[in-house]
Amino acid sequence: AAIPVIAVDGPSGAGKGTLSHLLAERLHWHFLDSGALYRVTGQACLIEGVSWQDHAAVAEVARHLQVSFVTDAGGEVRVSYRGCDVSREIRTEEGGRGASTVAAIPAVREALLARQRDFRQPPGLVADGRDMGTVVFPDAPLKIFLTASAAERARRRYQQLLAKGENVSLPRLLEDIEERDARDSSRSVAPLVPAEDAIVLDSSTMPITEVFDTVMRAVRQRG
Ligand code: C5P
Repeated sequence: AAIPVIAVDGPSGAGKGTLSHLLAERLHWHFLDSGALYRVTGQACLIEGVSWQDHAAVAEVARHLQVSFVTDAGGEVRVSYRGCDVSREIRTEEGGRGASTVAAIPAVREALLARQRDFRQPPGLVADGRDMGTVVFPDAPLKIFLTASAAERARRRYQQLLAKGENVSLPRLLEDIEERDARDSSRSVAPLVPAEDAIVLDSSTMPITEVFDTVMRAVRQRG
């Protein structure tokens, strides 16, 4: 039988990361953070002096991306590009803009396709992203589309950044989120839409523990 995949898609800040990590941990499955691949691609362009606007050159960077994910002693995932730790840089607001900009380039998505599918290893994979259920793993037996209102996602992001000691404005964050949502859902290649067979859950009205329980029930039901 095919190696099982749980595809977890949705906009940023809906709790996909938390949900996906909980699932991977409970099931002892592998984990794919596809957003990190786009973030590293954006960062790699900065390092290599390639403009995000130069589509052919960005695709070349994506094709040769030397990226590694290593869990450190404290349980944190460190992300490296060509052996250089870029974990912090890729999580900044600029890192998010870079990811979203390079992710709109079809040749970049194509270049990262096989690399994402390589994560599908026994006993199973939890894949976190925007197009896991629609493009990368269309045959995934379980697809979750996790969403939340823009206001709620902005509020969560605000709390996260505050906790990291970053100085941010809530209205500015909300604006950024709405802008990125619009860009992600209107792009012609792999737009952010639920797969037809996805279970749609809204975390604005449900704590993430409840979302997790709901998904675990679905996992058991589908064997
Ligand atoms: O999930 P994360 O916030 O790290 O993703 C960063 C950006 O990468 C998203 O805003 C989106 O534009 C892009 N992305 C994508 N497809 C994925 C994952 C991320 O286009 N599967």
